[in-house]
Amino acid sequence: MKVLCLALTVILFSAAALVSAQDVQHVTVDFWKNFTLTCDLTMHTDIAAQQPLNISWEAMGKDVVRYDGNMHYGSLFQNRASATWDDGKLSVTLHPVVLSDADVYECLWHGRKTLRTVIITVLETYYEEDIFVRYVNDSVRLPCWGIISKSRTLEKVSVYWKKNGKDLYSLVGGRPPNPPSFMYNNAFMSQDLIQEYGELSLFIENLSPEDTGTYKCWYSDDNFAAVPGIPGSVELTVLDYILPTEIDPFVVSDNSSSSPTSYPTMADQEQEEVWPEMQGTSVPETSPGAEETVPPLPWVRIGIISGVLIITALVMGPLVAMGKI
Ligand SMILES: *[C@@H]1O[C@H](CO)[C@@H](O)[C@H](O)[C@H]1NC(C)=O
Ligand SMILES: *[C@@H]1O[C@H](CO)[C@@H](O)[C@H](O)[C@H]1NC(C)=O
Ligand SMILES: *[C@@H]1O[C@H](CO)[C@@H](O)[C@H](O)[C@H]1NC(C)=O
Ligand SMILES: *[C@@H]1O[C@H](CO)[C@@H](O)[C@H](O)[C@H]1NC(C)=O
Repeated sequence: MKVLCLALTVILFSAAALVSAQDVQHVTVDFWKNFTLTCDLTMHTDIAAQQPLNISWEAMGKDVVRYDGNMHYGSLFQNRASATWDDGKLSVTLHPVVLSDADVYECLWHGRKTLRTVIITVLETYYEEDIFVRYVNDSVRLPCWGIISKSRTLEKVSVYWKKNGKDLYSLVGGRPPNPPSFMYNNAFMSQDLIQEYGELSLFIENLSPEDTGTYKCWYSDDNFAAVPGIPGSVELTVLDYILPTEIDPFVVSDNSSSSPTSYPTMADQEQEEVWPEMQGTSVPETSPGAEETVPPLPWVRIGIISGVLIITALVMGPLVAMGKI
């Protein structure tokens, strides 16, 4: 990723060098923050009074926004750009900035005269959640982001999703695994998200426990070799509604637990993590006084905790075997 960024930066600097005698400004923006580009026509007294108005912000030849009395948004930006024409200034805010926004931006008068050039570098500071717990028949969006140049067509883009090292979904040269549908088995990618946001997320519907696994996303944009997207790896666990009672030390009158719409939150997971310790220190149920020594547990969480116990067992088993603990 870093190598690719460096390569891209070099390309952008070269592109900037070609824009001779222009004031070129470099800015670094955090991924997923808002960023505003402003073009101040009042700084250009020679053209400020000229009519008709025709001023635009462009990214690699693609319109971000154009103002000619009315505001026109470019197709790649219409869903996340807000522009204003105010007091001789054309301002456009990208909300939010995505990795693909690393580009050369120009403010142009009648599509010809360059008034301002800005080179945006995007920092990969934003990491989405990469651990997902879902129930059977739910759906999930496994996030992945890449740098897809605005000047490329989808035909130059390839995306590879692997599950536990095996190919799961491959969009090769803009061609989905089951053309013309972007749906393959229960998974799909969004063409619009790829082009507008450089978002390479995989959507999976009707989850089953077999979908549990480690998912990795790779992509290539034209001549570059495939590189990992961000985040490079996500974990998915699909829980069944039927609780595995054999490892549940409590007799659960299973009624209110594991509602399909209440996912474990971060707070839940933190609480769950203390559970294996509590299990270790608890007094066997046959022993008198067990009621007092075992802290009361919120019954609603029992279902979730049981699921996590399995995961913990799966994780702890190999660790113990490897002598790590
Ligand atoms: C970014 O822009 C969006 C849309 O205009 C707005 O809802 C959001 O509050 C902005 N975020 C920040 C941090 O300004
Ligand atoms: C503004 O300039 C662009 C680029 O030259 C041109 O395509 C467009 O038609 C112009 N718009 C108006 C309203 O003149
Ligand atoms: C999941 O969906 C299938 C098909 O619609 C259905 O037969 C099954 O009962 C559902 N499972 C659960 C746990 O809801
Ligand atoms: C489960 O909940 C329903 C409705 O709240 C109630 O009628 C039923 O008796 C409960 N069953 C058990 C085993 O607690």
